Amino acid sequence: MIPKVPITVTVNGRTYEREVPPRLHLADFLREDLHLTGTHVGCEHGICGACTILLNGDSVRSCLTFAVQANGAEITTVEGLGTPDDLSPLQQAFREHHALQCGFCTPGMLMSTIDLMQKGTPATEEAVRGALSGNLCRCTGYENIVRAVLAAMEAAGPEGKAAEGTENEAGANG
Ligand code: FES
Ligand code: FES
Repeated sequence: MIPKVPITVTVNGRTYEREVPPRLHLADFLREDLHLTGTHVGCEHGICGACTILLNGDSVRSCLTFAVQANGAEITTVEGLGTPDDLSPLQQAFREHHALQCGFCTPGMLMSTIDLMQKGTPATEEAVRGALSGNLCRCTGYENIVRAVLAAMEAAGPEGKAAEGTENEAGANG
C-alpha cells in the first residue's frame, strides 16, 4: 500500500493539515476531505474548467493538480468569495446579468474571472472571451456571462479590487 503524505494547505484563509494519498487530485481533496463542494468536477481532464480554483493567486485546474502539489499553498475556492446573503461584487454581477442557468460552470467561471481581474486586464469583450475560453457552459450561450464579467471589471476599475472576496469559509455554491 502506498503511504499517505502529510500536507498543510490554507484554503479560504483557514489552514488544514491532512494526510493524503499521493495521487489524490486536489479537486477530490477539496470536495471530499474538506467538504468544499463548490468546486465542481466535470470532465476530469482539464477541458471544461468547472474545477478552476486559485492556487497561490493563479487559476488552475484542480482536476489536473495533485493535492500533494498544493502542500504549503494558499488556495481560494468559490466558497471564499461570498455567501448567499453576502455575495461578492462579481457574484452579484452574475446575478444581476442572469449569467447562469444550471450553475454547474459558475464556480469555475468566477475563479477564472478573478484571475483575469487580478491581472489588471482592461475590460474588453475580447479579453473576457479569451480568458473564459477554457470554461465551458452548456446553458447560457456565454453572452450574459460576458456582460456580467465586463460589468464587474468596469465597476472594479483597473486595480480589480472588487474581485476580492470576503474569504468566507462557509459554502456558497455547494
Ligand atoms: S473537471 Fe477539471 S477541467 Fe473539467
Ligand atoms: S449555467 Fe449551466 S453549464 Fe453554465
